[in-house]
Parts: sequence; structure tokens; C-alpha cells
Amino acid sequence: MRFLVLGGTGLVGQAVAAEARVRGHDALAAARRGTALALDATDSDALRLAVRTHRPEIVFNCINFGSIEACAARPEDAHRVNAGINGVLAEACEEMGAALVAIGTDHYFTGDGDAKHGEEAAVALVNDYAKSKHAGERLALAYARSLVVRTNVTGFRGWADGQTFIEWALAGLRAGRPMTLFDDYYCSTLDAGSLAAAAIDLVERGARGVFNVACRDVASKQRFVMAFAERLSAQTRALATGSVRSLPVRRAESTGLDVGKAEKALGRALPSFDQAVDTLARLAKDA
Ligand SMILES: NC(=O)c1ccc[n+]([C@@H]2O[C@H](COP(=O)([O-])OP(=O)(O)OC[C@H]3O[C@@H](n4cnc5c(N)ncnc54)[C@H](OP(=O)(O)O)[C@@H]3O)[C@@H](O)[C@H]2O)c1
Repeated sequence: MRFLVLGGTGLVGQAVAAEARVRGHDALAAARRGTALALDATDSDALRLAVRTHRPEIVFNCINFGSIEACAARPEDAHRVNAGINGVLAEACEEMGAALVAIGTDHYFTGDGDAKHGEEAAVALVNDYAKSKHAGERLALAYARSLVVRTNVTGFRGWADGQTFIEWALAGLRAGRPMTLFDDYYCSTLDAGSLAAAAIDLVERGARGVFNVACRDVASKQRFVMAFAERLSAQTRALATGSVRSLPVRRAESTGLDVGKAEKALGRALPSFDQAVDTLARLAKDA
């Protein structure tokens, strides 16, 4: 099948394109630079033309608008990227009969610690990142063949100018650098390769609507890094405990996801916390 992977140089986009190719699909990666197809997806005409020209059977939207702080500083731009692109893609994919997979977020839940949240749980939109991503979900879902994948993901992206969470943790652990780890910020973090494999499995099975695709357990950021450090036999003396509430822009901090719906559709379990950390520790050896 022909895949168009938007955000193809990003953490998730790289993993989706690689997984699609391993399965024998033809994956065309697009981003503003560094890909076979150079495309600013906020240019709606160029985006429509790309879908019409390349005639993908599956479009993955793995585009991301910077950080939570960047979304707070430039909410209109965040909305244009995180929401508007899905609106154009929903129309273009419908016109061409392609399936649309929009990578979403877990950044919707607050105040209940390490609870797991299903796809129907009420959302709290506490910042502009959450508002723009949620608007993007709604726009994607206007098209009946859309799959919105809510997730929390990390992995090795290899950019010179910006680290993922696990790249930051690995660099800090290797250097023995002091790092503050939040013990009150809960997620179901999955490695990008496992996310890509599960998302492609779901779209190949014809899944539509919202699906949580994450690790099947919930852990604090602190527990995640401590487990990662243990796998690497890294010293943890320089690590301190902190609170997500110290950050300038408010976070949704209870972002655990219930993955039962995805596991049922996939017919298999998604990785556990230990499996996700094992995978990242294995990849860290080559990073
Ligand atoms: N990583 C996380 O912690 C996390 C957690 C939960 C959910 N997610 C979701 O996962 C998805 C992917 O995130 P990620 O972390 O993989 O992103 P990322 O590593 O930051 O990569 C973003 C990608 O989007 C491209 N891009 C940005 N603006 C673009 C534009 N206007 N036109 C075309 N391409 C553009 C970037 O390339 P150029 O800048 O060169 O164009 C890059 O390829 C997002 O939906 C995000 O919300 C991520």
C-alpha cells in the first residue's frame, strides 16, 4: 500500500515510515525539510495537492507543533498546525478515498493521579496544546475513515537541535547531571516503534474513531526514569524529586490511558511498563 507520512522526520513519523517499509509498503515521508517530499502542511493548497498527486491509501499525520510552552506563546499557530491540518486532511482523504490516521495526545486528564482513562472519559483542556489537539481530533473525526490515536510516546529521534524525553534522560544519566523528576506526573509511555506497529495494525484492520495506544500501565515520570536508569546500571545520586506544578504552563498530569479497546481490536496485549522500558534501554545502547 502507499503511505503518506506527514511529520516524517519526527519521532513518531520516522517510526511509522520505518515500520511501513519493513512491512513492504511504499511510504513517502514529508516534512518542511529533510524528506523526499518538502511540504509545509499549513499551506492547505499544497497539502491537498500532495494527497491528490501521490494518491496514498493511508495518510498518517504525525506533525507536531513544538512544545507546550510554544503552544501557550503562539496559540493561533498551534491551532493552525495541531487542528487545521487535520481539517484539510479529512477533506482531502475523503475526496481520494484514503484512510486518515491522526496521532493525538493523552494530555486531557487531571486530578486523579495514576488512574487510567478510556476513550470516553471526560477531557480537561488545561492549556493551548490540549485545546488545539482536541480541536484537531474533532476535525479529523468529521471523516468516517479517520483513526485518532491517543498516545504518550518517547524514543530516539536523533535531532541535533532538540531532545526527546528519553534522550534528555539518557544524556543526563550518562553525564551524572542533576535532573529533577516529577513524582506527580503520570503517563502510559510507550516506545515509538511499538506505537507505530500498533497504529499500522489498527488501520490495516479498518479501525475508526478514537483509540488509546500506549503502554498498558501507568507510572510517574520519576518512576519511568528510575527504571530506565536501573536497566542501564546508571548512577541516580544526582536525581531529585520535583512537582509538575512547578512548571510555568499548567500540565494535564494524570494522563494514564486505558488501552483495553485497542488491545481488543488488535487481539494482543500492548507492551507493559517493563517491556516499554526494556525496549528503550536496548535502543539506548546504540544511541
Ligand atoms: N513526543 C511526545 O511526547 C508526544 C506525546 C503524546 C503525543 N504526541 C503526538 O505525537 C505526534 C508526533 O509528535 P512527535 O513527538 O513525533 O513530533 P516531532 O518529533 O516534534 O516531529 C514533528 C514533525 O512535524 C514536522 N512538521 C512540523 N510542522 C510542520 C509543518 N507545518 N508542515 C509539515 N511538517 C511539519 C517536523 O518537521 P519540520 O519541522 O522539518 O517540518 C517533524 O517531522 C504529535 O501529534 C504529538 O502531539 C507526542
